[in-house]
Amino acid sequence: MRLLLLCHAFNSLSQRIHAELIAAGHEVSVELDISDEVTADAVRLFEPDAVVAPFLKRKIPDAVWQAVPCLIIHPGPPGDRGANALDWAILDQEPEWGVSVIQATGELDGGPVLASRTFAMRAARKSSLYRLDVTEAAVAALFEALDKLGRGEPGDSPPPGRWRDPVKPDQRRIDWSHDDTETVLRKIYSADGAPGVIDEVEGQVVRYFNARREPELEGKPGQWLARCDQALCRATRDGAIWLGHLSTPGEKPFKRPAARVLADLAAGLPSLEPDLATGRGPIRYRETGPVGVLEFDFYNGAMSTLDCQALLAAWREVRRGSARVIVLAGGSDFWSNGMDLNAIEAAESAADESWANINAMDDLAEAILTTTDKLTISALRGNAAAGGVFLALAADRVWARSGVVLNPHYKNMGNLYGSELWTYLLPRRVGTDGIDQVMGHRLPMLAGQAAELGLIDQAGPGDPEDFDQYVLEQATELASENWQQAIEAKQAQRDRDEAEKPLAEYRAEELERMRLNFYGFDPSYHVARYRLVRRTPHAWTPLYLARHRHRVGKPARRRRPAP
Ligand code: COA
Repeated sequence: MRLLLLCHAFNSLSQRIHAELIAAGHEVSVELDISDEVTADAVRLFEPDAVVAPFLKRKIPDAVWQAVPCLIIHPGPPGDRGANALDWAILDQEPEWGVSVIQATGELDGGPVLASRTFAMRAARKSSLYRLDVTEAAVAALFEALDKLGRGEPGDSPPPGRWRDPVKPDQRRIDWSHDDTETVLRKIYSADGAPGVIDEVEGQVVRYFNARREPELEGKPGQWLARCDQALCRATRDGAIWLGHLSTPGEKPFKRPAARVLADLAAGLPSLEPDLATGRGPIRYRETGPVGVLEFDFYNGAMSTLDCQALLAAWREVRRGSARVIVLAGGSDFWSNGMDLNAIEAAESAADESWANINAMDDLAEAILTTTDKLTISALRGNAAAGGVFLALAADRVWARSGVVLNPHYKNMGNLYGSELWTYLLPRRVGTDGIDQVMGHRLPMLAGQAAELGLIDQAGPGDPEDFDQYVLEQATELASENWQQAIEAKQAQRDRDEAEKPLAEYRAEELERMRLNFYGFDPSYHVARYRLVRRTPHAWTPLYLARHRHRVGKPARRRRPAP
């Protein structure tokens, strides 16, 4: 089919659906929902068989849905209606939730339901439910809906449901003196990634994000108890939580580490050391037999200079241990999205902080790559982008959960040249001919496609638990069978490569180009970062997405009444 994706932003769900539809042989183009006129224009140019809307914040114009079938992906079961479906599902403690594919009519979310799926709710952030459970359900339901549409079958009328207005700030405001830990976490989860739970701290309006449970500490309800790295601990009625990130209105309205935003308060708190074993902090390590698993669950997959340094210290510590194979497991939502663009945007000199951050990423890549007395595996349970993808390639094996979406290029960040030793790592995997295919390709890629290209070694099971199990089994096998031979081969290969061209040379060449990106005359990287961090609304659809705009001036495919 010829399908037009219409979305508010080309977000994770839109990216996954885009890649899945193309892999299934459909002809796909994208238009961002900028105005009714732009949408109508896109439909006129592309003449789609259907419009698919994975992520919309407004109604589809009447003239469009009246002319072409429009399939809305709604993150709620049939009958559920309204813009904050997942927020309400978390707040209402729904045990099960769903996704519906609704054919657009004049009534918002009120049209016939072509397909739906359900999933069991987890105690997790809204953004995490969206990226994993909603996304998997949406892909399955969309394919069923398209089949139905292809066969000309109508959808079912929606069951009597209810319209839910957006959640008001007071409906999830925390009452520190009464709310228990469960309730506080639930409120914050329901608003994370956006819009955050509003509160007032020392006369300052803040929004809370990235909360997790503290296992031991307690205090007077509402009392600030401790800091650990960049997170702050606050007591609830029956325990305590860690707050990782906050935002404040004003000059820097984006998410920053809590201890930075509330620096004075943080300075007066007792400081706790992060601990790899207890999981107080984003870096955790555990061993199962000869396999060590190192998780690094950095918020939004963003790795600041400090995060990279902490992970490097952890790497050095686990290297000294007895594990024969080390799995780099990233976080459950993201493996890594490269440098922390928010931290860079918040710094006094964005160029200096970019420089420090990329050097810290490179140190990490180098440390993984030069670990020749262990076998290393990057296990991507969640998505990865830009420098995060290339960091993963520093391991001996790269496995990804099926369903993971990779953005293995730096182009969308103002044409950054990129580092993380990609000029050494990438040709080893895809050959010199494959470099352009990866670096010049600005579109997201499924794990399976990345494996076909040779960018990664394998796409594993799609279910997160099955994938973890699969990784552990395969890693255990690597640790026993022919481990010594594999280690010797690895050392010999590294020595040969180093003799041919030292890693330091690759790094210096990459950094020379990055220096120009950060300090040179072309401001593209700084502009792209500013826009991403501040979520600036799109004013146009990039041409690499809007394929229909390549066809301007070409004869139309067939006649369809213009909307
Ligand atoms: N640094 C800081 N924040 C980042 C980030 C990064 N490198 N990558 C993603 N994020 C944040 C986004 O700002 C967003 O924040 P929010 O929760 O405040 O809305 C959140 O992560 C989710 O990102 P979003 O773009 O909504 O998710 P997505 O799944 O739709 O897209 C990416 C994911 C990774 C494709 C996209 O965010 C991206 O291109 N990030 C930049 C990657 C990059 O260029 N890194 C630096 C070069 S190494």
